[in-house]
Amino acid sequence: MGKLENKNIAITGASSGIGRATALRVAREGANVALIARNRERLEETAAEIRAMGRKAVVIEADITDADKIKEAVDTAITELGSLDVFHCNAGIYLRCPAKDLRMDQIRKLMEVDFFGCLNCVYAVLPYFLERKSGTIVTTCSMDGKKGVPPDAAYVAAKFAMNGFFQVLRQELRDTGVHAAIIYPSRMDTPQIRHVDCPAITPKGDPDLVAKAVVKAIVKKKKEIMVPSFSCHLLTWADAISPSLSDWLVRINHLDGTVNDIEPINEAK
Ligand SMILES: NC(=O)c1ccc[n+]([C@@H]2O[C@H](COP(=O)([O-])OP(=O)(O)OC[C@H]3O[C@@H](n4cnc5c(N)ncnc54)[C@H](OP(=O)(O)O)[C@@H]3O)[C@@H](O)[C@H]2O)c1
Repeated sequence: MGKLENKNIAITGASSGIGRATALRVAREGANVALIARNRERLEETAAEIRAMGRKAVVIEADITDADKIKEAVDTAITELGSLDVFHCNAGIYLRCPAKDLRMDQIRKLMEVDFFGCLNCVYAVLPYFLERKSGTIVTTCSMDGKKGVPPDAAYVAAKFAMNGFFQVLRQELRDTGVHAAIIYPSRMDTPQIRHVDCPAITPKGDPDLVAKAVVKAIVKKKKEIMVPSFSCHLLTWADAISPSLSDWLVRINHLDGTVNDIEPINEAK
């Protein structure tokens, strides 16, 4: 028996990277999956792999910045799968740009997708979970939502907003039967940061590590999981002791990485 046998799970950003890895991982654990993103072709590829495992996969083309489309997506997932047990707010974009060079429209775009897009999903699914008195909302935040790392100011701002919102949400949901979990990945090897090289001391991780954390958060009702655990905890402890210490750790570990010559994707131009 898988850890998520017959659970029905919706995942945004399931066409790539962490969302795709999570869709495959939860299907391996026995779940049926509603795959949500804008690129139907890539969603169909993930869906085909899930169906080959004998699980249901529903492809839903939707942009998370469109609140009505996301409501429709939740309704479709419930109709096609029969019910919904988990919603994973994962879709997001990244922008690497020093704060002094950022334009306001770029910052707004990051907030629109990474923060308000996530909230569109929360408000689309929360009434359903509250009525059923059960359900889990998991969000893929980022270690950038715990400790600001240059040159990611716009992305960091959106992820800090998400972190703050979810910390309050999970406390308000106490005793409702609905659980909210936050995952904080460090740099992961996905298309989102294919234009960023990381040094050997802080290499990019396998997105399946995040997928496993999502499964753990659902099954064990974890509130927060950092990936990888030790180095992320070290950074947050250092930050609690002294911001100078955590700034120094960011610097000596070259957490900002370096830009290579690969064209970035999904960026706010
Ligand atoms: N990679 C990392 O190092 C890292 C670290 C910490 C946190 N994260 C977070 O993890 C999440 C997944 O990122 P990833 O690394 O897996 O990136 P990715 O490979 O670029 O995947 C991003 C996903 O989000 C979807 N997406 C983007 N904008 C969307 C929109 N407006 N509406 C619907 N779907 C949208 C994309 O699909 P379509 O283009 O098909 O819509 C894609 O499936 C993001 O929230 C990211 O911020 C990533």
